[in-house]
Amino acid sequence: MSVSFNTRHLSPFVKEDEFAAIYPQVAAAHQMLESKTGPGNDFLGWMYLPRDYDKEEFARIQAAAQQIRSDSDVLVVAGIGGSYLGARAVVEAVKGVYHNELEPGLKIYFCGNSISPTALNDIIALCKGKRFSINVISKSGTTTETSLAFRVLRKLLEDQVGTEEANKRIYATTDRARGTLKQLADSQGWPTFVVPDDVGGRYSVLSAVGLLPIAAAGIDIAELMQGAADAMDRFSQLSPDNDAYKYAAARNILSRKGKQIEILECYEPNFALMNEWYKQLFGESEGKDNKGLFPASCIFSTDLHSMGQFIQEGTRNMFETIVNVKTPARDLYIEELEGNFDGLNFLAGQNMSVVNRKAMEGTILAHTDGGVPQLLIDVDDLSAYNVGYLIYFFWRACACSGYLLGVNPFNQPGVESYKKNMFALLGKPGYESLTAELEAKLK
Ligand code: PA5
Repeated sequence: MSVSFNTRHLSPFVKEDEFAAIYPQVAAAHQMLESKTGPGNDFLGWMYLPRDYDKEEFARIQAAAQQIRSDSDVLVVAGIGGSYLGARAVVEAVKGVYHNELEPGLKIYFCGNSISPTALNDIIALCKGKRFSINVISKSGTTTETSLAFRVLRKLLEDQVGTEEANKRIYATTDRARGTLKQLADSQGWPTFVVPDDVGGRYSVLSAVGLLPIAAAGIDIAELMQGAADAMDRFSQLSPDNDAYKYAAARNILSRKGKQIEILECYEPNFALMNEWYKQLFGESEGKDNKGLFPASCIFSTDLHSMGQFIQEGTRNMFETIVNVKTPARDLYIEELEGNFDGLNFLAGQNMSVVNRKAMEGTILAHTDGGVPQLLIDVDDLSAYNVGYLIYFFWRACACSGYLLGVNPFNQPGVESYKKNMFALLGKPGYESLTAELEAKLK
């Protein structure tokens, strides 16, 4: 099986009958999802997206990706949050974090995901003098970070190639009909792709939001979707053996036992952005009404040398979920070294993946002894198919987990607060009454 939830190390903390006890609540959550009667039911477009996606648009995405790969040296993708994380996460998980350096042809850079002038200047430097295209991604079309980066890069592109040619090199992914970006795209004749109305940002990676940059990176998006579709067939069935629901149940049981922090971990550095994607998915879905598990993440063994001490012996308020990638994309055979100067010949004659596995097994046992529950998500490898599968696994689990917690997993009312303050402090028209109040607080 491509992805499975493994509870073999959980028995000291959660008994099988606890899963049975919570199952009626899981069944109720499933029912709310399938009958679309729960809170946030207007954002359930992700549930059958891997089957029901727009095939005509999918073909346009593949064609646009091909066009970009043939006429550009650089694709710069502007977006933030749900309009950024999924695409980069899939590209890095499947192709590796050094894909730009290692592969000939198109380089892909992400921007508009901060307000750092340093970061944007670096992107400008990477584009200057190159044949570059832009994919601007924003459902609302008004997100400050994205809009600011896009206005600068669009100007750079127009200055370099002229408006007419620039208009052929700007791809806008936005609302089907509304918003500033949609209007601008239509008026300039940019190719546009749709963020579906009923799919929220954190559930949008398998829409055009993620698919265009992922396809441009040379990843087979049909394979990615097939993995998600197979996961959809499996995880949309109500059963005590539904691994996505069992994972959601385990999280809920552990949180009721005071384990309020989940650390998602992987022994593959290429998974680092998938960790970030997971944090948005669960953090934004569950963190509201003064509830929610705090989603954290680590890459091991790297972070065993920084966070390992805390996990082993610090406050006992966490559990770990390990994404166990069974087969690395590229293994390395460890050879015998004459003289054994580094004392590592005991590792020789085997693949490095075995060492990585033993590190994982040793850590699981040590952390279990330290009182930290261990959940495992076994994944065959980080192929496009299995990453698609994993994405759907997390989607289903997250939706169920949110309903088990009693929150609306599909809204994010809290993210507006900082924006309101930032706009007032920047003097945006319409925010005048708040400006003085906030400035007084900052004195
Ligand atoms: O999940 C969300 O809704 C957010 O993370 C958004 O995706 C993010 O704020 C970007 O919004 P937009 O696509 O409107 O620019």
